[in-house]
Amino acid sequence: MAVERTLSIIKPDATARNLTGAIAKMFEDAGLRIVASKRIHLTPAQAGKFYEVHAERPFYGELCEFMASAPVVVQVLEGENAVAKNREVMGATNPAEAAEGTVRKAFALSIGENSVHGSDSAENAAIEIAFFFSGLELVG
Ligand code: CMP
Repeated sequence: MAVERTLSIIKPDATARNLTGAIAKMFEDAGLRIVASKRIHLTPAQAGKFYEVHAERPFYGELCEFMASAPVVVQVLEGENAVAKNREVMGATNPAEAAEGTVRKAFALSIGENSVHGSDSAENAAIEIAFFFSGLELVG
């Protein structure tokens, strides 16, 4: 199995409820290592750039506004099959469909306010990590 890195975002609904530590613990308990972490407050334009792939979706405006509504914690998670493992720990996008024991089952409020984002492929992980972090900030 390959050691990978993936980009995780703890979203505004979760930071607002003081869930950063609880969510980070779920990643660590699953064997993922947090090799970079910072708390930032995105502007709507920055959120729009990050989610630009969804620009044509009807929820894009709402998504950008929400992501800029309060601080987020962006993290790089490292481990064996980190992309898939992180998605397993997060659970389904829609919390109504998320499995027991996942972050979204435990904490998400709705499909929009779903507590966490995780890269969906190794290729996108590299792009998303570079969006938020310089190489100097990744400390294995
Ligand atoms: P995320 O994994 O961050 O990737 C894109 C986000 O868009 C997704 O999580 C959801 O939070 C959001 N999203 C997806 N579908 C909807 C929807 N139908 N309504 C509102 N937000 C959505």
